Amino acid sequence: MAIRLGDIAPDFEADSTEGKIRFHEWLGDSWGILFSHPKDFTPVCTTELGAVAKLKPEFDRRKVKVAGLSVDSVDDHRKWAGDIEETQGAGLNFPLLADPDRKVSTLYDMIHPNADNTLTVRSVFVIGPDKKVKLSITYPASTGRNFDEILRVVDSLQLTANYSVATPVNWQDGQDCIVVPSLSDEDATKKFPKGFRKVKPYLRITPQPNK
Ligand code: BEZ
Repeated sequence: MAIRLGDIAPDFEADSTEGKIRFHEWLGDSWGILFSHPKDFTPVCTTELGAVAKLKPEFDRRKVKVAGLSVDSVDDHRKWAGDIEETQGAGLNFPLLADPDRKVSTLYDMIHPNADNTLTVRSVFVIGPDKKVKLSITYPASTGRNFDEILRVVDSLQLTANYSVATPVNWQDGQDCIVVPSLSDEDATKKFPKGFRKVKPYLRITPQPNK
């Protein structure tokens, strides 16, 4: 069954390049990103995993644990890791889960049979510290993802969780935010010492609170 926003991210146990992982236990109190790629030793996936490795300090800064997954074995993942390091200038520094029996892929609906019967598509799940799914996106095998965009979404999600603001179209870190509609003007005045601008009763703009 499809996983929807707000659902508890299904728990599982799987082998990985960093040993056996019990997903919820491994996440602990952190945010998490679980992403699938179609296959080891393929070109687009090689570039993606190199990019995620380079962004590791950015994920760490946001307290986000990242795990990749494909239906290949841990042995294959380990062999492929050498190619990633050689060609992308960054070695695997996060766990890559092995899912040869498709247990996790099935649980997370990562195999889309009308796209490919056996391989996982490019799924991304962002999971909050409450283990609930905050974002899911799906890309086809032929399109590499933009992990800077995924970091941008994490920033937006964390602002909403911590400061009761939403982020407008094409928002980038440091730009103005939107007061969430559930907050009254009175509460917003207390919550945002820098104030807010009321363009419409439902459109209230405030400087990014953590800057
Ligand atoms: C790739 O990562 O390059 C890829 C994987 C599966 C199908 C097409 C492309």
